[in-house]
Amino acid sequence: MSVTILGIESSCDDTAAAVIEDGSLLSNVVAGQHIHKQYGGVVPELASRAHQQNIIPVVDVALSHAGKKPNELNAIAFTRGPGLIGALLVGSSFAKGLSLALNVPIIDVNHLHAHILSLFLHRKKEHKPVPEFPFLCLLISGGHTQLVIVKDYLEMEIIGRTIDDAAGEAFDKCAKIMDLPYPGGPLIDAFAREGNPHAFTFGKPVIKGLDFSFSGLKTSFLYFLRDQLLLDVNFLENNLKDLCASLQHSIIEILLSKLLRATDETGIKEIALAGGVSANSGLREALLKLGQKQGWKVFFPEVQYATDNAAMIALTGYHKFLHGETACYAVTPVARFEQL
Ligand code: KG4
Ligand code: ZN
Repeated sequence: MSVTILGIESSCDDTAAAVIEDGSLLSNVVAGQHIHKQYGGVVPELASRAHQQNIIPVVDVALSHAGKKPNELNAIAFTRGPGLIGALLVGSSFAKGLSLALNVPIIDVNHLHAHILSLFLHRKKEHKPVPEFPFLCLLISGGHTQLVIVKDYLEMEIIGRTIDDAAGEAFDKCAKIMDLPYPGGPLIDAFAREGNPHAFTFGKPVIKGLDFSFSGLKTSFLYFLRDQLLLDVNFLENNLKDLCASLQHSIIEILLSKLLRATDETGIKEIALAGGVSANSGLREALLKLGQKQGWKVFFPEVQYATDNAAMIALTGYHKFLHGETACYAVTPVARFEQL
């Protein structure tokens, strides 16, 4: 008998649904929310309202793209957290309602755990290289930056984390300083491709062990730009590409120096990226280069699965379902998760 799982993701500003059958992806639908652009960041109340408007059509389209009827589902997986509570409530309440109507179990999924499993997403008959367990994953999203030893689909250990901002926040906040719209990461990536990464240098954090820090870089970037604008009002527009390239270079250096240290400490040579920032083209290139030098095997999620999606939620739900890890209806969303 085959196992078919519907996944629902609503932790931030994307309403998403996807269907996985026996570990293969049948459909993957994401509705973004453009309303936040004008505010320079996600407005939680507006996100919740947009999720409410989008969730029924998004699930409907995911099921029809998959060629599945609701009564063919074996379980419904949903993001429990971390994320915005109001946004998570929309997805979790919808999942509970649908599961009661269909008389199938619900499966609660940790969004960060799911980002890591995005490395294993594939469509039917599609074969792609995947990391072998145990591998080391640098998980970099808008709200988190973690180094994780991935021992199995459902067994992971966090060995390093940010003590302040996340890597994605560093991109987004510095983009805001440059008056670029939210989310700034993809724009900085695009401008950086045409700029000089060595044009400017910014403060580097000195943090012990495998933890990260990005708030000092952000402050250094802010003060540098403020001082340059006092000397030349056109500094930003005349140097935008070099600023983006230099900033991105600094972020990549912070990330890869800790990754290098983690491989030294653990001896693991299977290395993967996951999370929205793993879509960054400069980071991918730099890791491939470093990996070649170090003799690592390097893996990335497909760009479409790097940023928030429900395919990764459905796949995580699939693995939990195989282990009988379903949830009861008392389960509630959580804004933060300390463990994976
Ligand atoms: O994983 P994700 O979609 O959502 C969270 O779980 O937070 O990550 C979103 C983050 C944002 O900070 C966004 O700016 C960043 O990923 N991002 C990028 C790129 N694409 C998305 N950062 C740098 N370069 C990119 N190409
Ligand atoms: Zn995410």
